[in-house]
Amino acid sequence: MAYKLGEVILSRESIARRVHELAEDIARDNGKDNSVVIVGILTGAAFFLTDLVREMPEDMDVRVDFMSVASYGDSTTSSGVVRIFHDLKSSIEGKNVIVVEDIVDTGLTLSHLLELLKGRHPASLKVCVLLDKYERRKTEVKVDYCGFRIPDKFVVGYGLDCAGKWRHLKDIKYVIEE
Ligand code: IMP
Repeated sequence: MAYKLGEVILSRESIARRVHELAEDIARDNGKDNSVVIVGILTGAAFFLTDLVREMPEDMDVRVDFMSVASYGDSTTSSGVVRIFHDLKSSIEGKNVIVVEDIVDTGLTLSHLLELLKGRHPASLKVCVLLDKYERRKTEVKVDYCGFRIPDKFVVGYGLDCAGKWRHLKDIKYVIEE
């Protein structure tokens, strides 16, 4: 099937404004020790993450780490299987962790990943997503910080891809089937 780019759903300006607000919210909620480990899920979230952390205050102790995972499981599996392609470089034990993801759709990837990370005993574990396709949820995931709730349509840009394409777009756009 062939795809082409559709209209802009989120402009670069509105994304930048919201990313700034999310960073402010995270900084405000951050614990006394003022430290946080931001865990980005490769590849899509890398784009959002780099903008997000640069909006955080200079006096915050912000560490960045990445994971690359694929989720196997279904909505009836409470703790599914996450296959790790690339793991974190540092231990998260006793740390305030925020998982940063580009989009939460069915919620399966995130819920499986959160189970896995909980087992590593962080002091706290929160979730920050840029986009939430809430209509498609198959399993409950507690999203602590959400950029935008969007309808159930495929989108690309700002890290999000369609078969590897269009991650590099500055705006987020719909994809249309030709
Ligand atoms: P979930 O396990 O269904 O929540 O899967 C989330 C993953 O699906 C995201 O990390 C994306 O890789 C992918 N995804 C879901 N919807 C879209 C979309 O509209 N555009 C691009 N990727 C998407």
